[in-house]
Amino acid sequence: MILLGIETSCDETSCSVIKNHIVLSNIVKTQQIHKKFGGVVPDLASRDHEKKIVAIVYESIEQAEIELSDIDGIAVTYGSGLLGSLIVGLNFAKGLAVGLDIPLIGISHLEGHLSSGFINNSPQFPCISLIVSGGHTQIWLIENINKFDVISNTVDDAAGEAFDKGARILGLSYPGGPEIEKIAKRGNPFKYNFPLPEVKNNKFNFSFSGLKTALLYKKNKLDASDEYLINDLAASYQHAIVVSLLSKLERAFCHYKVYNIIVVGGVSANLYFRECALVLKKKYKLDLIFPDLEYCTDNAAMIAMAGYLKLSQQKYSDLSIEPNPNIVYE
Ligand code: KG4
Ligand code: ZN
Repeated sequence: MILLGIETSCDETSCSVIKNHIVLSNIVKTQQIHKKFGGVVPDLASRDHEKKIVAIVYESIEQAEIELSDIDGIAVTYGSGLLGSLIVGLNFAKGLAVGLDIPLIGISHLEGHLSSGFINNSPQFPCISLIVSGGHTQIWLIENINKFDVISNTVDDAAGEAFDKGARILGLSYPGGPEIEKIAKRGNPFKYNFPLPEVKNNKFNFSFSGLKTALLYKKNKLDASDEYLINDLAASYQHAIVVSLLSKLERAFCHYKVYNIIVVGGVSANLYFRECALVLKKKYKLDLIFPDLEYCTDNAAMIAMAGYLKLSQQKYSDLSIEPNPNIVYE
């Protein structure tokens, strides 16, 4: 079965071809126009998707060495994300599905991230997934491919957002996660103490807004021109986010006694995070899956994989499916 995946929910225009479980191509173009604004400008994002989507779809087909007529189904992100950006991908996918007379499979972006754990890996059920992206930080208890419960959420910022806002405080560019990771390599993660945020009434929930404020106070007290101090601050801040994520994850898998773990989303690309997670893996003998780096941040291969998993069960969408900028998982 050959699936085409399309992802345009935010500032990546991406198209991928997969054949069963195997990724044949995964073209990801990150929009550069937003850099100077320090965040994504929705109007510019949708226009840029519109301009590039046709070329990117053709590039992914060419790289996969298939013909349009070989495609058995089209998986596309219908939410969550920016409305204008979602509309570009969804409408393009609908048109192509009608033209080729093949099924359309609407995929939620988080389901897509989750499915990235199935690319080049075979997760065992039941499992627990930590989803850490720019918009979400959640823990899901997954009984099987069709049944999951959200057991934890962030009460304020998402982990990726904490990296992005922290980077802005430190004078680094957007997206902040890779920038903080880069300078943190030259810093001491134990130099500055950040509190481990706790959330009242839910020991699994996350909170990151206090960390960001603590970073701002610490930075204001320092000599910002001292590169070494800024590196230490970045390393300690990154450490605090990672410890917070892993300590809540540990509580969750111990509580539910589920030791198959999948960590997905943009922040899962962070190598310091992966390194610290290995300590838990050893301690609890976890079956721990992090996707290959190219499938952590937004990409269409994960959407195609989610489509493959759905289509294998004869599940597809009506052509009247609408974009949903804010799918709520609780
Ligand atoms: O999953 P993703 O690509 O998009 C969303 O669905 O939000 O995640 C983007 C987020 C951004 O906040 C970005 O700063 C963060 O993931 N991120 C990282 C790294 N790479 C991306 N955070 C920490 N370390 C990284 N290496
Ligand atoms: Zn994402």
